[in-house]
Amino acid sequence: RIAGPCSVVIFGVTGDLAQKKLLPAIYDLANRGLLSSSFGLTGFGRRDWSNEDFAAFVKTAIEARCRTPFRESTWENLAKGIRFVQGTFDDPQAFARLSQTVQELDRDRGTRGNHAFYMSVPPSAFPLVSKQLADSGLAKSTDGAWRRVIIEKPFGHDLQSAMELDRVVSEVFDPSSVFRIDHYLGKETVQNLLALRFANSMYEPIWNSNYVDHVQITMAEDIGIGGRAGYYDGIGAARDVIQNHLLQLMALTAMEEPVSFSAEDLTAEKKKVLSAVRLPDDLDVHTARGQYAAGWQGSEKVQGYLDEKGIDQSSITETYAAIRLDVDTRRWAGVPFYLRTGKRLGKRVTEIAVVFKRAPHLPFEQTAVRELGKNALVIRVQPDEGVTIRFGAKVPGGSKMEVRDVSMDFSYGRSFTENSPEAYERLILDVLLGDPPLFPTTDEVNLSWKILDPIEEFWSGLGQPQPYRAGTWGPKGAEEMLQRDGRHWRMP
Ligand code: BG6
Repeated sequence: RIAGPCSVVIFGVTGDLAQKKLLPAIYDLANRGLLSSSFGLTGFGRRDWSNEDFAAFVKTAIEARCRTPFRESTWENLAKGIRFVQGTFDDPQAFARLSQTVQELDRDRGTRGNHAFYMSVPPSAFPLVSKQLADSGLAKSTDGAWRRVIIEKPFGHDLQSAMELDRVVSEVFDPSSVFRIDHYLGKETVQNLLALRFANSMYEPIWNSNYVDHVQITMAEDIGIGGRAGYYDGIGAARDVIQNHLLQLMALTAMEEPVSFSAEDLTAEKKKVLSAVRLPDDLDVHTARGQYAAGWQGSEKVQGYLDEKGIDQSSITETYAAIRLDVDTRRWAGVPFYLRTGKRLGKRVTEIAVVFKRAPHLPFEQTAVRELGKNALVIRVQPDEGVTIRFGAKVPGGSKMEVRDVSMDFSYGRSFTENSPEAYERLILDVLLGDPPLFPTTDEVNLSWKILDPIEEFWSGLGQPQPYRAGTWGPKGAEEMLQRDGRHWRMP
């Protein structure tokens, strides 16, 4: 489906996210023919830029990161709809100018009053920007056109702040016009999880506590915090990734089959999972947190978190977090879900591993099954998107029966010729189409904070996280956490 005439206004347009993801995604959508030729793009920021200066900035960002080939014709048409409004969030005059610019786009470009406001700014700025949009008459349209707001995470830093944020935003925008971005939901492989589970008959019968031993959800990154000290410090790995991406992945893995893939039906099932989550009684042994120290990432020597630019030497922010959660439903009784994430780990990989119980009986000699692990179904979210099944097979030859683990692979790259759009492309297009299934609702956000808040509170009394060397798989405590349960982390 192609988006109709409309525009996107980006607040925080000179930030990392806009440059690396949003601007290239908008170009790629245009290049794939998914935006109307009347599309408008407005940047709002402090810099003293003309429309042409901003267009040059946009072009640089696009050329550096676009995934589809750069085509002059696409760019020229996009550039005709590019505007810049100079100002600060506290200046009503700047919003009056924005209002004028948007009206000009309606008139000259044909955007027909349909505008999306992308808040790529810290949550502390949401209330002010929302109020200015309301006061300048931009938040609502009177002529049947739509106004939508896109909110980037973090949605607050705990349940209370998230609820407050929601109150402020919903005073200005109708709830159905608010789109909270969790870009993991826009990833093809995450959507494939639903296809895998619900388009096939062979997985669902074993997708429960009768067969599943435990589930591991890993989001590992090899990068450090880069230039994001201001955002990251004080937030940490759990709020940055577990509260949103990993709990969403867990909800999709654990939920019952939705009645349909409508936003309402999907949310209903995800909410049931999040409501059924139980925290371990002993948070000290079933959670782990770490902070990266200097080390090697491949052949590159990298500094520790405390030496990163903008980080206080005494910072107790965790860059690694692991937690065990249980889901109190019949399907998942007694099956732990282990979630982990970290920066500066061994490699960049996100996966969901469903690890199965051992066969109840093995009619082989002990020595024959020495190298047989537990069966596992691994959804490789990224990179090298696909699915792996690990199971035992007979080692060829030999006088005795010997069984060893082998893998069977499905890889997107090999099975499909179509290339996947970037998550942000999919999500921005969905906002412009007004299609909400891939966006977490307020209830989901609040339930996720309810899960995380007690853990954060417990951690806040612990002081310094355990150090781990950059390039390794995290702190000792994380390994011990699983060993106590008689398990171990996978090495993706
Ligand atoms: C963001 C986090 O939501 O996801 C970042 O704030 C993280 O800290 C990023 O680096 C990872 O996204 P992706 O798509 O590269 O896995």
